[in-house]
Amino acid sequence: MLPPGPKLPTLLQTAWLLTDPVGAFEKCRRKYGPIFTLRFFGFPPEVYVATPELAEQVYRLDQGGGRAGRVRRDFLEPMVGAHSLLTLDDEPWWRHRRLLTPPLRAKQIAGYEGEIAAIAAEKIATWPLGTPFALRDRMQEITLEVIIRLIFGIRDAQRLDRLRVLLPKLIEVGGSASLMLLPPRLREATRRLPFTPYGRFLRLRAAVDEILFDEIGRRRAEPGGTDVLGRLLETELGDQEVRDELITLLIAGHETTATGLAWAFERLLRTPGILDRLPHDEEYLDAVVKEALRVRPVVFEAPRLVDAPLRLGDYEVPAGWYAAPLIALIHQDPSVWPSPEEFRPERFLDGADAHGKAWMPFGGGRRFCVGAQLALLEMRVILREVLNRLELSAPDPAPEARRLKLVTLAPAKLTRVSARARTPARTP
Ligand code: HEM
Repeated sequence: MLPPGPKLPTLLQTAWLLTDPVGAFEKCRRKYGPIFTLRFFGFPPEVYVATPELAEQVYRLDQGGGRAGRVRRDFLEPMVGAHSLLTLDDEPWWRHRRLLTPPLRAKQIAGYEGEIAAIAAEKIATWPLGTPFALRDRMQEITLEVIIRLIFGIRDAQRLDRLRVLLPKLIEVGGSASLMLLPPRLREATRRLPFTPYGRFLRLRAAVDEILFDEIGRRRAEPGGTDVLGRLLETELGDQEVRDELITLLIAGHETTATGLAWAFERLLRTPGILDRLPHDEEYLDAVVKEALRVRPVVFEAPRLVDAPLRLGDYEVPAGWYAAPLIALIHQDPSVWPSPEEFRPERFLDGADAHGKAWMPFGGGRRFCVGAQLALLEMRVILREVLNRLELSAPDPAPEARRLKLVTLAPAKLTRVSARARTPARTP
């Protein structure tokens, strides 16, 4: 039996999901239970599962027959290339995963803490005081700089300046819905036309690639360095593969972390009593980060393309459809998280393990986010640096709605805040 779902025409379902994704998911769960089908225009039908146990069944597909890479390939390949952890599957994926995991382990990146703090301090000093601004954009400046300096390992001032201008433009043009959702054949057809988004994208990509390949060549001549590029150059990966993985880490790592931080502040500013305990209680800071990612997970789903019919409960998902743990709803399951809408970092003070596999902001299975430790480190350090220097307030106390932005849910007003200098600045 096929999993149930709304009978609305696909275009109407798409419009519903685009305007009120969380509302649509909640309504479907109430009506159909924890397994239901939704249809996005231009994609195979997608079966969502909304309990940790069912999610495990989907993640188990990673051992064979669930293609997370195939799901992402059409819209990501122009940006990340053909050799990306995000879009590969099977043996080629495993080969890359084995090489990318070690440089991103907690122990390896612990040494980045000082530099992340310095980058944050540098940027925070430029924020406006007394006039409201969108915090998420400021967070993105910091997380982008972390990638350019600690992952790409760029030190040369001129190159840093070029990339600070080029990368946000590349991401904006490359990540625009009009480009990413265009079927590949149609996209290719516009390649040579002037003034199309794809043409502009290709020019920007060529400019970025020129810098990256040059840097790769330079670093091959002078091996070493503690940045991720230095470590990747010690592996068997060729230049094109290294380039593709650098862009992969940029695409997967900087907007997600910035949005996670934006949500953490959005929730902190609307929950009394928590800011007083921050930022010097390290254990509590860690719990705040984890709770923010629980109550407002940035990535709301973790889809797999199903290779062979998949049995879920009483239903069968046909081959060729997508199956996806619905992270946004699993994090709201009241049987695991009492009063799930409340922002309560205390839930994590006894150790996240108490919640078993129900906490999954970084997905699961073998495709679990390779940058999870770096993301958690960045979030802790950046939160602490901001709170040490500034007192933030929310000009509008109403909670910000969740807006769909490709595969993420971002705060609708990008976490609007007003900042005041903290005098004297807090020091640890
Ligand atoms: C708060 C920040 C972040 C969130 C919420 C997040 C979330 C996720 C999720 C949900 C997945 C898919 C997992 C699955 O399908 O089961 C993923 C995959 C991935 N993430 Fe992250 N991520 C974050 C930060 C980062 C960072 C900082 C990096 C790297 C610098 C990164 C690199 C990747 C890569 C390369 C993959 C693909 C892994 C694979 O398919 O083997 N992410 N992430």
